[in-house]
Amino acid sequence: MPHLFDPLPIRSLTLTNRIVVSPMCEYSSVDGFSNDWHVVHLGSRAVGGAALVMTEATAVMAAGRISPQDLGIYDHGHVGGLARIVHFIHSQRTFAGIQLAHAGRKGSTLRPWEGDPAQRAISYANGGWEPVGPTAEPFADGYPVPRALDAPEIAAIVDAFRDAARRALDAGFDIVEVHAAHGYLLHEFCSPLVNTRTDEYGGSYDNRVRLCLEVVDAVRGVWPGRLPVFVRISATDWKEGGWDIEQAVELSRRLRDHGVDLVDCSSGGAVHDARVALGPGYQVPFAERIRLDARIATGAVGLITEAAQADGIIRDGRADCVLIARELLRDPYWPLHAAQQLGHGVPWPPQYLRAAPPGTLAR
Ligand SMILES: Cc1cc2nc3c(=O)[nH]c(=O)nc-3n(C[C@H](O)[C@H](O)[C@H](O)COP(=O)(O)O)c2cc1C
Repeated sequence: MPHLFDPLPIRSLTLTNRIVVSPMCEYSSVDGFSNDWHVVHLGSRAVGGAALVMTEATAVMAAGRISPQDLGIYDHGHVGGLARIVHFIHSQRTFAGIQLAHAGRKGSTLRPWEGDPAQRAISYANGGWEPVGPTAEPFADGYPVPRALDAPEIAAIVDAFRDAARRALDAGFDIVEVHAAHGYLLHEFCSPLVNTRTDEYGGSYDNRVRLCLEVVDAVRGVWPGRLPVFVRISATDWKEGGWDIEQAVELSRRLRDHGVDLVDCSSGGAVHDARVALGPGYQVPFAERIRLDARIATGAVGLITEAAQADGIIRDGRADCVLIARELLRDPYWPLHAAQQLGHGVPWPPQYLRAAPPGTLAR
């Protein structure tokens, strides 16, 4: 079995190790544009030795943002700033991924650190908009009331993902990840707790996963065959009667058949009253199960913080890579430190060599 610092070949790319920067919203954009914060934030994590740096959820439509400050790729004007970030990430011999997203009914909300925790909706006067979802039910009290999408609007969202993928290619990204987790639009359609539609996008399992697969087909259709497509899913709603691991395994099989290369296995987010069994590596069993039963590469994410823990996940064949979020906020150089702890010599940026362990080579 490979270990954490073994390369991971996917299509024409070979990731230099198994560590991926998990997508993390920075809520720091104006009108969807990236800026110096994104260059430094994402660039630091490339310097820190991850093999792949994934952007935050990047909105494919202005109305698909979570907050007004979300990063976007819904206009060609967004491409230049993103290209600058990709250029820097590549200079560190790191691959660049972009997570494409539509927030669905969780859109038009305040940044997490703003306002009253019970009042998340933003008024129109403060830059809010009418969010959309499978139905007109809000996520929870204090959230905006969405408009239920009609068929032409659904088709426009599929087109928006396709156009966004084209722009991502123009910006130079190597990997595109479709965000189908955390109670955002695509997950809302999959979850029987949220999607109570009676048309061809609701009801049966096939109908609920239809939008997700249409988006994947649209993205795969414009994304070159030499480059990978990932999908982040929620493997369970953590609630009786909701989306669960059996449904997630079946979706993963279909994703594989639709040209997806890796399923990034997260969970939750569809409903506000889920009971999540949090603990170290708590979502790893989902990555393991999907890898085994759907026969597709998986990424494990969630409370993976220790080098030996991450290494064990790869060595035990429970996932093909680990995605790390908060630990990489605490320590952007976590991959370099993990290599040192595990006794693997990995190259350091030449600018930092004087601080590197003896015998370390320049990248
Ligand atoms: C600040 C922050 C922003 C996040 N934004 C996103 C996002 O844009 N897209 C996404 O799929 N997950 C997002 N997440 C979830 C993380 O990618 C990750 O799945 C989660 O934090 C669990 O991993 P961890 O325990 O390593 O932090 C975010 C998490 C944090 C802490």
